[in-house]
Amino acid sequence: MRFEIVTLFPEIVEALRIGLLGKAMDSGAIEIVARSPREFATDKHRSVDDAPYGGGSGMVLMPGPIAETLDALDAERGGPSHKVLLTPQGDRFDQRMAERFAALPSLTLVCGRYEGFDERIRGMVDQEVSLGDFVLLGGEIAGATIIEAVARLGPGVLGNDESATEESHSTGLLEYPQYTRPSVFRGQEVPAVLKSGDHARVARWRRKEALRRTKERRPDLLETAPLTDEDRKLLAELAAEDES
Ligand code: ADE
Repeated sequence: MRFEIVTLFPEIVEALRIGLLGKAMDSGAIEIVARSPREFATDKHRSVDDAPYGGGSGMVLMPGPIAETLDALDAERGGPSHKVLLTPQGDRFDQRMAERFAALPSLTLVCGRYEGFDERIRGMVDQEVSLGDFVLLGGEIAGATIIEAVARLGPGVLGNDESATEESHSTGLLEYPQYTRPSVFRGQEVPAVLKSGDHARVARWRRKEALRRTKERRPDLLETAPLTDEDRKLLAELAAEDES
C-alpha cells in the first residue's frame, strides 16, 4: 500500500523507519512518500502561510501550495488516492476506519500546521479525520499514527497473520491478559490454566478475561461487539462472580 504525507516536515518519513514499520518500508510491503507544500511556494521566502483575513493572531496555511502538492502527487501516482485532512474537527479515527483504509491502494494524509489552514483546503480532500478530542501542534503525529494502525493490517507487515485479528479492538473487545516467564514475579503468579497445556481451557479462559476486561474498562464496547452464545454464558458467569 502507498501512503502519502503532505507536510512541511517531510523528514517525518525517516522517523517512521523503526521496528516492523521500518521493515515494511524496506521490503516494499508499504511505501511512504512525503511532499512539502514549500516546494510549491511561489515567493522568494518560500511562504506557505499568511496572516488571517479579518485579523487575529497566528498564521494560516495558504491553499495554493497544498493544491499544487496534491496535483503533483496525483500526476506522479496516475491512479486515485483517498485524501484525508487531519484536523480535530474530523471524523473520529478508530479500528474500523483503519480497516477501511487498509483496503485502499493509496491514502493521502494532509497535515495542517501553525494556527490553522485556509477553509478552501477542506474542499481538496475526501474526508476529514481526527484522532480525538485534543489539539496537536500539527497533523504529522496524527498522520504517523494512522499510517501505523493501517499499515499493520496489510500483507507483509506483521510476522504472523493472527496477531492482527486477536488483539484489542479488532475482535470488538479489549485483549485478554498475556504472561511470559518467569512463572512467579515478585510474588505474582501466572494463572495456572495457562500452564496446563489444555488448549481448549486456555482459549475459554482468554475469552472470559477479554470479556471481563472489556466489561470493566469499556462496557460501551459490549453493546456493539459480535457476541456468541458462549460469550453470553461467560458474561453470566462474570455477573454471578460480581454478586458473590
Ligand atoms: N491536528 C491537530 N489536532 C489533531 C487531532 N486531534 N487529530 C488529528 N489531527 C490533528
